Amino acid sequence: MNKVTVKDLDVNGKKVLLRCDFNVPLTEDGVITDKTRIIAALPTIQFLLDRNSKVILCSHLGRPKGEVKPEFSLAPVAKELSVQLGREVKLAKDVTGESAKELTSNMKEGDVVLLENVRFDPREEKNDESLSKEFASLAEVYVNDAFGTCHRAHSSTAGVAAFLPAGCGFLIEKELKVLGDALNNPTRPFVAILGGKKVSDKIGVIDSLLDKVDTLLIGGGMAYTFFKAQGYSVGNSICELDKLDLATSLMEKAKAKGVKMILPVDNKLGREFSPTTETMYAKYTELPDDWEGFDIGPETIEIFKKELQGAKTVLWNGPVGVSEFDIFAEGTKQIANCLAELNDCTTIIGGGDSAAAVTKFGLGDKMSHISTGGGASLEFIEGKKLPGIECIPNK
Ligand code: 3PG
Repeated sequence: MNKVTVKDLDVNGKKVLLRCDFNVPLTEDGVITDKTRIIAALPTIQFLLDRNSKVILCSHLGRPKGEVKPEFSLAPVAKELSVQLGREVKLAKDVTGESAKELTSNMKEGDVVLLENVRFDPREEKNDESLSKEFASLAEVYVNDAFGTCHRAHSSTAGVAAFLPAGCGFLIEKELKVLGDALNNPTRPFVAILGGKKVSDKIGVIDSLLDKVDTLLIGGGMAYTFFKAQGYSVGNSICELDKLDLATSLMEKAKAKGVKMILPVDNKLGREFSPTTETMYAKYTELPDDWEGFDIGPETIEIFKKELQGAKTVLWNGPVGVSEFDIFAEGTKQIANCLAELNDCTTIIGGGDSAAAVTKFGLGDKMSHISTGGGASLEFIEGKKLPGIECIPNK
């Protein structure tokens, strides 16, 4: 990577503002249900502590829309970080206000302070320069390690870098390397699996992948728009009627490029979107009215598994069914199991719902890499420039 990293910066004994993505799922009682993003931030934090830095952490949590809302406080994260780091992590009561100033001005080497949710300040998401300068005034060095938020041009993810010596942390470095190697220099055959509800969310991703992969397996709700584009009836399944031409042109592009684009041949249907609904299976050519497709069927599972055998690089983004409901989780589960058993293959899970599914099935440690970025990894795959990376100077 040609960007400055934390290793290139003089951080010894310095006050370092470290932007992390601590946007973790919480229960109503403030219990963190997935600590992945906290664990993923530890190597950079520990690197700084080993160099006696005074570490000032910041992050967003959820979307409080510029207002102070206690349910979006980073208090549970401060508590968990204290446990993980084996030292007290003090939580400021505000973002850059009196409490943040007081806590950060009285730091000793090895101290760790966490600022309150940066999105409590309405200037954060506007990338307001006045807030960027306030962040900068708290520290001497800025490190961005919030890969999951790199696609947002906000004060704490991008703006602040203009006012301090800046570099990337180890998580960003790792994510860019794994995703970058897969996209630019994959060991072939390179197979991508795409799921998720809508074609419109993934147009750029499909388009970009068709330039890179050997095989593209399509599952999830978006498959029904492709069926409809071929003239089949999709019952009550999710379908974007304004994207039929687009679906057709993507299928044509795949053909022109010699990419095997494989759609489901059978589906598991339900009467309604419910974990206890009545179910049935149907071929894609015979999808009845009044039913809705929620998972790939057994024949498709076998076809997908066969395509995955022998793959050397697999990139997976988006569950192939409604995996949060057990009755529609079979396709996603079988794909996850198949990836877990592949030998000599780099398996990359592109964040968000597919990462949650793999974790739910207890297969996280069987994958080569699970990205901590949902939207960020999608934008990276699309080939878009990520503001949180662009703001870091080149070496
Ligand atoms: C994520 O969870 O994808 C990141 O933390 C970004 O969150 P956002 O979509 O609210 O900006």
